[in-house]
This record gives sequence, C-alpha cells and structure tokens, in this order.
Amino acid sequence: MNRFSSRVDTNSDQYLNNQSAYLQLTATLRERLQFAIDGGDGRERSIQRHLDRGKVMVRDRIDMVIDHQTPFLEFSTLAGWDQYDNTAPGAGIVTGIGLVHGVPYVFIANDATVKGGSLLPVSIKKHVRAQQIAEENRLGVIYLVDSGGAFLPLQDDIFPDKDQFGGSFYRQARLSAQGLPQLSVVLGGCTAGGAYVPALSDEVIMVDGIGRIFLGGPPIVKAALGEIIEPDALGGAVVHTHTSGVSDYIASNEREAYGKLRELCEATNQRSVANRQDWMDWQEPRPPHYDPAEIYGIVSADDRIGFDAREIIARMVDGSEYSEFKPEWGDTITCGYARIWGHLVGIIANNGIIFSESALKATHFIELCEQRRVPLLFLQNTTGYMVGSDAEAGGIAKNGSKMVAAVANATVPRYTVLIGGSYGAGNYGMCGRGFNPKFLFAWPNSRIATMSAETAQTVLVDIRLAGLRGENTTEAEIDAMRAEIAEQYETQSDPYYATSRLWDDGLLDPVDTRDALGLCLALAARDDEPERGRGLVYRM
Ligand code: COA
Repeated sequence: MNRFSSRVDTNSDQYLNNQSAYLQLTATLRERLQFAIDGGDGRERSIQRHLDRGKVMVRDRIDMVIDHQTPFLEFSTLAGWDQYDNTAPGAGIVTGIGLVHGVPYVFIANDATVKGGSLLPVSIKKHVRAQQIAEENRLGVIYLVDSGGAFLPLQDDIFPDKDQFGGSFYRQARLSAQGLPQLSVVLGGCTAGGAYVPALSDEVIMVDGIGRIFLGGPPIVKAALGEIIEPDALGGAVVHTHTSGVSDYIASNEREAYGKLRELCEATNQRSVANRQDWMDWQEPRPPHYDPAEIYGIVSADDRIGFDAREIIARMVDGSEYSEFKPEWGDTITCGYARIWGHLVGIIANNGIIFSESALKATHFIELCEQRRVPLLFLQNTTGYMVGSDAEAGGIAKNGSKMVAAVANATVPRYTVLIGGSYGAGNYGMCGRGFNPKFLFAWPNSRIATMSAETAQTVLVDIRLAGLRGENTTEAEIDAMRAEIAEQYETQSDPYYATSRLWDDGLLDPVDTRDALGLCLALAARDDEPERGRGLVYRM
C-alpha cells in the first residue's frame, strides 16, 4: 500500500487554532473522567468508609486481577454523566476488557462507593451492554460483586422490562451455556437480586469478612420471621463455603481472592489473544508515519467547516498507508484498505454530505469487504444524505437504502467511531448504534442528533407556525421558539449527553483511538470466522 501524502500545514493559523480548541476538549474529557473515578458530592465519605473496611477501590481490584502491565479497555466511564444530579459517577459500575493469562475477559465490577454499588437504570444498561460485548466477542465474564442490587427508589425503571435487571440474569445464564466462563468474586453485601449474580456464576469465590450473599438481609429476616441474626452468620463466606455450598472457595482477603481467580482462569480453556485465527489477515504492526497528535489540528474547531477524513485515517493506520477504492468517484465518502495494529481493515469515512454516488460507492465497498472477509471501520462525520429535487430525482432514497441494507447485513466485524457529526440517516448508513457495530466510540468533538441545532430551529419553527394556521405570532415569539429549540438540540447532541446514556461505548481521545481499535480487532482475530453473508458484489 502507498503512504498517504498529507497536505496539512502544521504551522498554519487554522491548524494552530484547531489544535488549541481541541486541547481544551481533551482537558475537559480528562477532568470529567477523573470525576467519574473519584469525584462527586459526599463521595469522599463513602470512599473513606470503603477503605476503612480494608476494601480495595474498584479499578485497583481490576488491576490486581489482570496481567501485569497490560492495558484495560474501559467502557462508558462517563455513563450517568449529568444524570441523577451527577450523584452516580460512572453509574457506579466499571466495565471493560482485560487480559488474564493472555485471555481477554469482560469485567463487570460494582463501585460500592457510589450508592452502595446499587444499580440505577443506566447502571443496568451498562451491565447488560458489557454482557452483550462478551457474547459478541466470545469472551468470559468476571464479576467483581459489591452491590446493593437494584437502586430501590427507581425500581420501576430497573426491574421489569427486557434488558433490565431480569435481562442481566437471563444473559448470564445463557452466556454460561455458550461456554463463556462466568466467574464471580463476592466483595460486599449481595442482597436479593444482587445475590443472583454470584449464584448464577460457574464458580464463586467469597472474601471472608466482607462478602455476603442473602436473598433477604437481616432486617427482612427480622421482620418476616422475628429472627435476629448477624449478617455474616446469615450469609457470610464461611456459611456459604462450608455449609450452603453457594460459594466454591473462600479467601481471607482480596489479594488472595484475585490469586485464586487467576488460578481458576487457567483452567477455563479459552483462546488467548496470541491465538490468531487464520481467516483474518495480519502483518507485523507499524506506527503511523504521521503523528496521531496532529489530529487535534486537523479537526475543525468550527463544525461548519469540514476536514479531510483521509488526513485522519493517515494518523490512525500503520505506516499511514491507505489504498483508496474508487477515489475519482463519489468523493463525499472515502473508502479504502489500511492496517491497524497489523490487522487489515476496510475503512469507510465521510467527507461531507452523502450523495447518491457516495452511497453507491460505499455499498460496493461493503460488498467487497464482505466477500473478502475484511472487517469494516466506519468513521462518521456527516450531516446525512443529500436532500433537494436533484437528489430525489437521482434516487437518493433508494441509493441510501442500498448502503443502509448492506451495512445491516454485513457479517464481518464492524466498528464505528464518531469523529465529527452523526446526523440523520447518515448515522444509520454509517453503522450507528442501531446497526450493532461490535464497538462504537466517539470523540469529544462529535455531535449526534437527527439534525443540527441550526437546521432544527428552522424546521421545527416552520412546523409549529404551520400548526398555528395563521394565528398571529410576533417576531419575538418566533425568536423565543428558535432559541428554545436550538438549546434543546445543542444539549441533546452533546457527546457527553450521548455517552451518559450509553449511545456509545465511551468517549476516546483521538490519539488513543488507534490503540482501542487495535484491541478490538485483536478480539476478532482470536474468534472464529463469522458466518458468511452474501458473497456477491454488485457493481453500482
Ligand atoms: N437501593 C438504593 N440505595 C441503596 C441500595 C439500594 N438497593 N443499597 C445501598 N444503597 C445506598 C444506601 O442507602 C447508602 O446511601 P447513603 O450513602 O446516601 O446513605 C449507600 O447506598 C451505602 O449503603 P450502606 O447501607 O450505608 O452501605 P453498607 O456497605 O453498609 O451496606 C448493602 C451495603 C448493599 C449491604 C446495604 O446497603 C443493603 O443491604 N442494601 C439494600 C439491599 C437490598 O435490599 N437490595 C434489594 C435488591 S433487589
């Protein structure tokens, strides 16, 4: 493949302005990530109480389990951001992928310093999404359980519906049946629903003195039966390991428990990341020729000004080498082959509004990748499909639909990163969340909505005025409507609004994106070849 020849002038005013604006975005991201880790009103008190009980902080627990000096790919660290009055940093749960003896596992670990590790609606969503990632990537799950179960004041949003509390147990049982190990370490009081996480696991370790499992805690037992009993006597590690058999192993402290867990992992007979299956093409990885940090100066500070996606690709892929498909046609989408950490990928990236030709080119390229079993990476930065009489007459609706249908039916692994705008059906055609990419990440400059705030104020005001059918509306009232709509759209298209609700698997600093994708591709490389789809390539 040929090296892409960059046209970026790193000394230009535009570059320097963009760079300084982006550095502010990454500073905000770091600040908010730190808040999720140890911030929040009154959290110091909970953290201190947790430490005073001799308990380890949730991310340190994960570090104690995973292989020394290996990365942990954490998901949706900012779940819950600005919801629940910002009282649930990270939604009280940490999820991600880490290696144990070279084998990747999904971790689902409660953070007991946030509402006693109880699960809010968004925490359940995060828990279930982690299980979905495990299923789609054929990974076992390690549960570090320290949770008060469902967050009771919001029980109606947690308990009854599909993919809520019950759905997490349904998935756990089915993951186990698929041969994906479900291992639990019990590190806190697991009550009622919370008791089923360890109880449904393949193997359970309890830590003496802190781990407890009971369907009803001491207050319920007292109310129901008049029996007065201490928590450890009711459901402590000794009772469950020596008497009930709910737990298989007892550890006297957390360190011992994680040593035992690593020992159990040695006997799960799972493929390591080094065990690459030969359907996926791989070469020795090389860093990009152009510095990934230059992305900061390329992404426009003003989102009405576009930027060339090829300049971004050149800073994400091995050797900055990019073999572009059909470069002379449909130029508002660029498609081509490249390598990320040695893995061959087909990249589809927006360079503006999607016209019929661009949609057809992308469809053709998806078919090629499907036929050749090449994973697809979508880099979204579009205001959507072209509108207007020329576009309609040119069949944009059917051409866009071909792209959407091809994306929906591709069986090769698909990954999506929002590097700019993700508007309208552009979100669908470029493999948005509804199209089930294996992973979806977003950058802190991204925006996601049906349309931009600017367009929405015009469209929605026109609709409202038409509804008023000639009733007098003053200019001031129209301006107020515009301002209200713009504010709503600005708020709801903000990347933090999106990541808070798990519309993505997390916000990434652009410079970390290549590494995150490399890890995701390494998971696909250890997996079996996906079921084959249509091998046909229709020339568009
Ligand atoms: N719903 C709502 N809030 C909960 C909760 C739950 N299920 N479990 C814990 N919390 C809150 C507590 O109210 C407390 O809030 P505060 O800090 O604002 O006072 C915080 O989490 C810490 O709980 P606390 O009881 O002080 O911590 P602990 O470490 O001593 O005990 C538990 C932890 C989980 C054993 C205990 O809180 C408990 O038994 N919770 C109820 C469990 C339950 O019945 N769940 C039903 C699940 S279906």
